[in-house]
Amino acid sequence: MKQLVIFLTLLLTGSLAWAADSGPVMHADVDLSDQASLQRGAKIFVNYCQSCHAAAYMRYSRLGQDLGITVDVLKENLMFGTVKPGDTMTSNLSRDDAVQFFAMVPPDLSVTARARGADWLYTYFMTFYRDDSRPTGVNNLTFKDVAMPHILWEKQGWQRAVVKETQNADGSVTKEIEHLELETPGELTEVEYAALVRDLVNFMVYLGEPIKLKRYQIGGWVMVYLIILLLVVYLLKKEYWKDVH
Ligand code: HEC
Repeated sequence: MKQLVIFLTLLLTGSLAWAADSGPVMHADVDLSDQASLQRGAKIFVNYCQSCHAAAYMRYSRLGQDLGITVDVLKENLMFGTVKPGDTMTSNLSRDDAVQFFAMVPPDLSVTARARGADWLYTYFMTFYRDDSRPTGVNNLTFKDVAMPHILWEKQGWQRAVVKETQNADGSVTKEIEHLELETPGELTEVEYAALVRDLVNFMVYLGEPIKLKRYQIGGWVMVYLIILLLVVYLLKKEYWKDVH
């Protein structure tokens, strides 16, 4: 009994500590079955992210097949320069330039959604704020002192941090960011920007595990098969038991 109490206490405090660690997280609520959303997400990705980040495990042709995009539309909207449908989604940014600009190479984003999780990504794109002490002029609540600029600023606008100051007993002052508020609106309303980020994250979740789309499709057929099988088995059962009763 005593051991059980200790175990439960540990479990509870452990999970509370974990919850406190993870900070405020917003929910992405992505939907991989929403093909239009995935297509919009892909468009944002190639237009706003691929100049710095690659997704080198994905080929354009595969993207087209999975998301229901024809080769012509693919070529017109998602492929730039001399790339061919069979090419992988690399970035044009050279290693040297990257190191010069950011002191690092922006990571490949193929499996970032799996490593970070959809909610983390969603929150990350919602929590850029102005910070003049940073070389890029922005900081991020989810990824402190991030080297990435706020790429989607035209869409979202600029947020500023509302800081709470508390006076400590020894006279010192602790500054803490209470929340972010929109200072300069962008092209989109807050609701529209949230929808754009959801599309982008939806696409990145697909990117992290493209086979998921196929699994969902197969899952649907398996359900249909099982329902038909149930019907057959039920009729068979009725037939067998007819004479027993
Ligand atoms: C101008 C170059 C640039 C562009 C454009 C850019 N990023 Fe970044 N990004 C970076 C750099 C540099 C980092 C590394 C930040 C660090 O480690 O401090 C980064 C980091 C990230 C991370 C964190 C990765 C991790 O797990 O540590 C994510 C996620 C990300 N970028 C997503 C995107 C998406 C999505 C877009 C398009 C909307 C985008 N980035 C556009 C430069 C860029």
